[in-house]
Amino acid sequence: MANRNLQRIYQQYKRASASTTAARAPGSQGGIIEPGARQPAVYTSPASMDDIMLGPGERGLMLGMTREGKSTLSEVQIDHWYNTYKDADILIIDSKPRFRAEWQLNGLPAAPLYRNWDWGTLVPNSVVIPMKDAESEIRLAWSLRYRIIIAQIQDRSDIGLLDQALKIAYMKRRKRHKLFIYVDELNNFFKVGVKGIQAGTGIIMVITSGGEKNTAFLGAGQRPRNISVESIESMTKLYWFYTPFDEDNKHLRSMDLPLDSIPPASRSYAFLFFDRIHQKKGWARIQPISVKPKDRKGSKGWINYG
Ligand SMILES: Nc1ncnc2c1ncn2[C@@H]1O[C@H](COP(=O)(O)OP(=O)(O)O)[C@@H](O)[C@H]1O
Ligand SMILES: [Mg+2]
Repeated sequence: MANRNLQRIYQQYKRASASTTAARAPGSQGGIIEPGARQPAVYTSPASMDDIMLGPGERGLMLGMTREGKSTLSEVQIDHWYNTYKDADILIIDSKPRFRAEWQLNGLPAAPLYRNWDWGTLVPNSVVIPMKDAESEIRLAWSLRYRIIIAQIQDRSDIGLLDQALKIAYMKRRKRHKLFIYVDELNNFFKVGVKGIQAGTGIIMVITSGGEKNTAFLGAGQRPRNISVESIESMTKLYWFYTPFDEDNKHLRSMDLPLDSIPPASRSYAFLFFDRIHQKKGWARIQPISVKPKDRKGSKGWINYG
């Protein structure tokens, strides 16, 4: 397992450095490059929504303190995936929980499940699974042509069930379908144990499955500190909302983020965007999508601060 991961990371590194050294070639005059030295990367600002949105096969990390806008950005990304990749299956892993499904697996509206909630956003066309037998429930949802599945728990101690659901969705993913997995409250899956940072095997499997081109992963957490180095190394895109801790960018070095990077101010709903593969970096903000189900529209608006 460890060796496979190292090989994978090395392959990713080789691919990334091959494309970047080509882009950084010092011109026809040639130049002196010390053997093995890495040139500082040149980053350009993201220029469109397409630059910002997570693509198939990518791994995205959203960071920021609570109420800075992570879940709202995830709604835009879920909407983007639903509308851009018509063959995409979407799985929302919701341990808080905060997402409202539209349907139950038995065909009834899901609204009564959320009677006592005074929070949460509706995800149109989504189905919530009961989490008694995730494997048959996910299969059933797919055979009923639901494209957005919400797996949620009411009790944080059931987190292992969600980890299991992640693993099942990844391993049983449908041929010729893309898969997009979004994990809200990523930190709930990572624990500091005697041997360092540990996580469920499902989440590690999905995050580090870099070779699987049709599966994309997006996770949201408050701090990078409890997320394993191995996981951060696998990330290709970063969305960094305000966090007050200087040492956070040291953890993000594991995904090649330059050390002088800082996130925008609190409650600006803006984030530092970093794309390691396409070498983009800059501050950005996304217009939230309308949450009223009737006039729900995809988010087209965005502002580039970079
Ligand atoms: N880009 C944005 N523009 C305007 N309001 C936003 C934006 N992003 C988030 N908000 C608002 O801020 C609040 C917290 O956002 P949320 O996405 O739940 O944060 P988090 O998941 O980081 O805790 C919500 O009420 C949301 O409507
Ligand atoms: Mg949230």
